[in-house]
Parts: sequence; structure tokens; C-alpha cells
Amino acid sequence: MRPKVLITRKIYERPLQLLKEKAEVTINLKDRPMTPEEIIAALPGKIGMLAMGSDRVSSQILEAGKDLKIVANNAVGFNNIDLDAAIRLKIAATNTPDVLTDTTADLSFALILGVARRLVEADRFVRAGKWVGWKPNLMIGSEVHGKTLGVIGLGRIGSAVAKRGQGFNMRIVYTDIRRLHPAIEQQHQLQFMPLRDLLQTSDFVTLHVPLTPETFHLLGAEQLRLMKKSAFLINASRGPVVDEKALVEALRAGTIAGAGLDVFEAEPQVSPELLAMDNVLLLPHVGSATDETREKMVQTAVNNILAVIRGEIPPNILNPEIYRS
Ligand code: DGY
Repeated sequence: MRPKVLITRKIYERPLQLLKEKAEVTINLKDRPMTPEEIIAALPGKIGMLAMGSDRVSSQILEAGKDLKIVANNAVGFNNIDLDAAIRLKIAATNTPDVLTDTTADLSFALILGVARRLVEADRFVRAGKWVGWKPNLMIGSEVHGKTLGVIGLGRIGSAVAKRGQGFNMRIVYTDIRRLHPAIEQQHQLQFMPLRDLLQTSDFVTLHVPLTPETFHLLGAEQLRLMKKSAFLINASRGPVVDEKALVEALRAGTIAGAGLDVFEAEPQVSPELLAMDNVLLLPHVGSATDETREKMVQTAVNNILAVIRGEIPPNILNPEIYRS
């Protein structure tokens, strides 16, 4: 009998072919996420679950998966999985690192350019038929080249954004829980700063940290107040890293100049105040949304499930301790 796998959302078909040869696959074909009750009802007998980053894989769900050996997240972020419960229940949890690094960095940089040069606002202006001709002061934005880019979290994606910034002749400052060796900093022209100094120095502050208890509301009213009035905040990491209420207030009061956001605290809900602001660019969590990358993410998740089916440790294991007895 072939092992059974649940896929919680209709996804790229091609990488699923090999999985379908090795396993009996059940896919949620509805064009909406499965409810926790639906997942719980579907899990008995399944050894694998290919979950979306938007599925909350709670301890209740993991406990209901009596036969579950792996939850393969179709995302690099894994704050949606109760990792402690997965460790307790000895269920492997995996993510999709690397394959989306450059794609998400591209999107982060698009947010930088978009808010600085008012791209969406200008597009709306043209579409509304308001453009009557060239004007010296029409849609004046902020320069990007030559400015200071503050990267919070210099991991894979943060580093890729920093590289793009250097291509724009930006000065790069960063903060992270781990500081690079000074020789590496010098070689790559990266300047370490404590968060406080980075916020006071940067013209663009871009967030690339995972969501953990330590990074929840990493930027609140107090931190936003440290930013320059002319500075922009970019968030393509996870919404709850920023206190969205405090951000709304900072934007309203002119404490900062604008924001480019791909993620929100209670997505898909967006604070209504943000919808009415011209100096914010709002995207529906599309950091990794290109054809090539989304297919590679599914391939990565499938590879992790196939490894478990073969009795191997999956390559992108997040809780390797489950394999130590
Ligand atoms: C990721 O891969 O973490 C993206 O944000 C999608 O959830």
C-alpha cells in the first residue's frame, strides 16, 4: 500500500508527479484554505502533509495526525507550525529555504523603489485621467541611490537585499543577533549597528527576520519614533514583526515618510487607515510569487516528503532533534 499524503491547497502540478508515483495524494481542490476541522478530518491515515505558510498547523492538528511523519511547509517561514508540538510528537517539520531568496529580495527592492518613487500612486494618477502634461513638481519622490539602507536580519534574504542596495550605490548598515566577522563586514562593505542606531541612521529600513517571540513587535511606537521623518519602512518578512497600530499612527503623524508592506499583522485583513494613505504601498503577501520560484518551492516540499517516505532525514528539517533518541 502506498503512503498517503494530504496537500492543503491546489498547487503546481509538475513537481507533484514524482510524489504521485510514490504516494496516494489527496489535494484540497477548493479555491480556499482548508479549515482546521477539514484538515483534522482529512489527516487520519496520512503520513505527510504539504501545508501552505498560511495554514495554522497547531498542536491540535498535529495531535490529530496520528500517522503523520512530516509536515512539509510550502514556505521558508515556519511560524505557522507549532514546532514544540512537532518535536514532542516526533513529526518532522520542513521549509523551503534558498529557492525563494532572490525572488523575495527582488520584491523587497521593488517595494523600496515603489514607495520612494511613488510608482503606484503615479500609476493611479495616470489611470484616473489626471495627467495633463509634464510639470516640474509632479510626483516628486525620494532618491534611492546613494542613500542608507538599514537591513534588520542579515540572513539569506536580508543579504540578497543588501547586495541589491549596493548595486544602487547605497550604504548598507545592518543589525542581526549574530554579527559577521569584521573582515567579512569589510570585504562586503557592511556596517553593523545596534537596532537603535540603525533606525536613526537609515533612509530605508527593511525587515528580514523570522517571526519568533523575540521579533514580535520588534518595531513599535518607540522604535518608529527613532526613524528619520524622511525614512521609509519596508516589510516583506512577517506582519507581526511590526506593531501595525503604531505604524498607522507613525504614518498619520508624519513620524516616517512612508511604508512598503507585503505582510500584515492580521492578514488578509489590512488596517483600514493604511488603505487610505498614498504614501504606503500595499501588496498581498507575494514575496515569492513568481512562476519559477513557486514551482521550486513545491519541488522542495515534495523532496522533503519523498525523503521521509524513503526513511531518510528530510534535507530541510527544522526539528532535527526528533531523530536523536
Ligand atoms: C514564505 O515562504 O515564508 C512566504 O512568506 C510565503 O509564506
